[in-house]
Amino acid sequence: MKLIISQNPGLTAAEILKTRLQENKKKTFVLALPTGGTPVEMYKNIVRMHKNKKIDFSNVLTFNLDEYAGVDKCCPQAYCSFMEENLFGQIDIKRENINIPNGMAKDLNAECAAYEDKIKKAGGIDLFFGGVGENGHIAFNEPGSPVDSLTRVVDLTEDTINVNSRFFSCAADVPKQALTMGVKTILSSREIIILATGKKKAEALKAAFEGPSTSEWIISLLQKHQNTTVIADADAASLLKTKPGNI
Ligand code: F6R
Repeated sequence: MKLIISQNPGLTAAEILKTRLQENKKKTFVLALPTGGTPVEMYKNIVRMHKNKKIDFSNVLTFNLDEYAGVDKCCPQAYCSFMEENLFGQIDIKRENINIPNGMAKDLNAECAAYEDKIKKAGGIDLFFGGVGENGHIAFNEPGSPVDSLTRVVDLTEDTINVNSRFFSCAADVPKQALTMGVKTILSSREIIILATGKKKAEALKAAFEGPSTSEWIISLLQKHQNTTVIADADAASLLKTKPGNI
């Protein structure tokens, strides 16, 4: 795993995306995208670059990492609404190229299986962007998630429900389940970039770089991947002895 310490992880990430899209020779570039507080800055930079004609999404196919179960896509807390507001509503992506798990599907297990299949049929993920939870989760793969897990329905931990309650009126309103890409789905990506900002993520980064590879800290499982970069700000990297490596 490589480490980049950046004063502006969102800008660094957007610059990397710009380069990857410029280098891309394939017909379609497959991008996995997160929601949450961390990537907001990245999306602002992508939108700015798009307005300056530096990033073109016309051949990009996206798969969001996760979605709450039982939340209508039009509801403000739905990840679908988040993506529309922060990115998709402001760029030239083709509507049919946007994929987000449907948390209102009648059969959530079938929805997850179809999502996994669609990723496979698209040729797999070229570039996976993710944030990290305070408990080390990636997407909604909570501690203990199996390394061979695929897209599936998961129970959110009490910690995650409490952390995410800031987006709802109270913790009781936070859905208890979500649909998420699995650990194997993520590890199958050709490149993984994790963004981490703030002191609350410092323990997870310590486990990622300086602990064993264990499903107790899902982020540490990325040690098994050959092309992973963590872009952290100084606070998130504050517990690390690991020195930044060049990309
Ligand atoms: C969201 C996601 C989650 C978040 C994580 C960090 O799509 O997959 O794993 O990346 O919970 O959230 P923030 O960025 O709000 O700290």
